[in-house]
Amino acid sequence: MKSIVPVALGAHSYDIHVGAGVLAEAPTLLATLSRGPLRVVTDAHVAKLHSDAIAALDAAPIVLEPGEGAKSFAGLENLIRALLRRDIGRDGLIVAFGGGVIGDLTGLAAGMLKRGVAFVQVPTTLLAQVDSSIGGKTAINVPEGKNLVGLFHQPQLVIADTTLLTTLPQRELLAGYAEVVKYGALGDLEFFAWLEAHGAEALAGDDAALSHAVAQSCRMKAAIVSRDPLETGERALLNLGHTFGHALEAAVGFSGRLLHGEGVAIGMALAFALSVRLGLCPRADEERLVAHLKAVGLPSAIGDIAGWRPDAMTLLAHMRHDKKARAGRIAFVLVRGLGQAFVANDVEEDKVLEVLA
Ligand code: GLY
Repeated sequence: MKSIVPVALGAHSYDIHVGAGVLAEAPTLLATLSRGPLRVVTDAHVAKLHSDAIAALDAAPIVLEPGEGAKSFAGLENLIRALLRRDIGRDGLIVAFGGGVIGDLTGLAAGMLKRGVAFVQVPTTLLAQVDSSIGGKTAINVPEGKNLVGLFHQPQLVIADTTLLTTLPQRELLAGYAEVVKYGALGDLEFFAWLEAHGAEALAGDDAALSHAVAQSCRMKAAIVSRDPLETGERALLNLGHTFGHALEAAVGFSGRLLHGEGVAIGMALAFALSVRLGLCPRADEERLVAHLKAVGLPSAIGDIAGWRPDAMTLLAHMRHDKKARAGRIAFVLVRGLGQAFVANDVEEDKVLEVLA
């Protein structure tokens, strides 16, 4: 099943092509975007897994070392200079072929190079297909925090071929699925109910179910980004589960012990628990969310992080340093129920501590 999801952003509008096999159309689609040179940027891991698909686009791709380390000033300089040596100019087209690291770094390099070169996202992880490849957020990390240096640079096209996900380790697929659940939990109860019925089929690799899950997630993200491209309001809802999740990731040292999506899954359960404690959300909705996370095998409680026990004050300190905190007030995405999220900046810290305890 193939879908084309438009992201309506005026002069910066673009389409997301979703489905099994859509990558076969890439050479034709890319030819319409630029007559200048095209360069694929990928990492060694993806280059090995998808060598034929990459070769069909570019015989001499730029292949980076895999891993989050590439999202640094050194990694950015390295990539920008590599693109310059390959004569990529304002008429060129840069294709980010990989997961979130490649997309974030390449998007930033494209946005800065010669004051902005066009780029296309070909996301190869579930997390990148449903979230990071859409909406133009690009960034690198600095010692002071993750994603603190970046800019908005929208891609010209996103090609989310679900067959690329068949090579993903199950744990990574599941972690990406947490972001899919997020869309249902934040704004689409019907989609959440569909996930309860068919999410396991999507995770087992059923083409139709996986394509629907990715396409519906893309539709939701596209709609929110279209209304609030620069995150001055509604886009912040996409951070459901992220304030708690980022604090957990930071507390475990951004290690393989907790993948980003796993942190988001636990973070969503905590955001629902906090909403229940504040009298905003029925307990039955929290239980329904947790039941679905558990049913598919995602963690849903801090105790699910193997071999690690948190210190609530440390987690709270990480939250105070969150990018979204304003004047020392931590921003939370809370819920009035499944599918009804809103942003709150006035949550008492002792209520947060009670939930963490
Ligand atoms: N990943 C959240 C956003 O794009 O706004």
